[in-house]
Amino acid sequence: MRLRPDAAREQRPIPEHAADGQRGGQAGRAGTAGPPPQHHLHKGGLSMDAIALLKRDHDKVKGLLQELESTTERGVKTRTELFARIKGELTVHEIIEEEIFYPTLKQHPRAKDIVLEGYEEHHVVDTLMGELEALPVDDETWGAKATVMIENIEHHIEEEEGEMFSKARQVLDRAELEQLGEAMEARRAEALQAQVRSEEGARRS
Ligand SMILES: [Fe+2]
Ligand SMILES: [Fe+2]
Repeated sequence: MRLRPDAAREQRPIPEHAADGQRGGQAGRAGTAGPPPQHHLHKGGLSMDAIALLKRDHDKVKGLLQELESTTERGVKTRTELFARIKGELTVHEIIEEEIFYPTLKQHPRAKDIVLEGYEEHHVVDTLMGELEALPVDDETWGAKATVMIENIEHHIEEEEGEMFSKARQVLDRAELEQLGEAMEARRAEALQAQVRSEEGARRS
């Protein structure tokens, strides 16, 4: 779909090392044990690592989903605006995951299955969003469909923040996670600009 694995090619996976096994029983310290960060991979600066960046996105989306859940058929304007915001956020989030985070993680055999599941879950959510967009927000089925979409997104976020991020911490080191974070920030800025341009285009026509 939006797959462009070459976008992450510069992030060569590095061999697994002592990061393995440091998670259990060391809550809050994951990523601090093991060998020192590999500075040659890091361009410097106070960048946010990939996991923190994706979690921040998740929290934002979860807040918006809660708001959407409390809307009714009569709140046409609120529903329409909220749905558009959610769709905008999720579209950019899926782009940075599918073009940068997923392809890098998928190269590690231990993380491959959960990444493949992630792509499928995105696909289900995309399908539901497409159907919701094509349906008048005051249609009697809109709310039920939105609930199913919300449940799917919440489940997906749980799986990413659980199994997927835990695998990511095992197979990627700190420098690599920061480099991915930087790449995702840059790609996000580009995708947001494209969104603004297409909204402006739609308004003009
Ligand atoms: Fe995500
Ligand atoms: Fe995702």
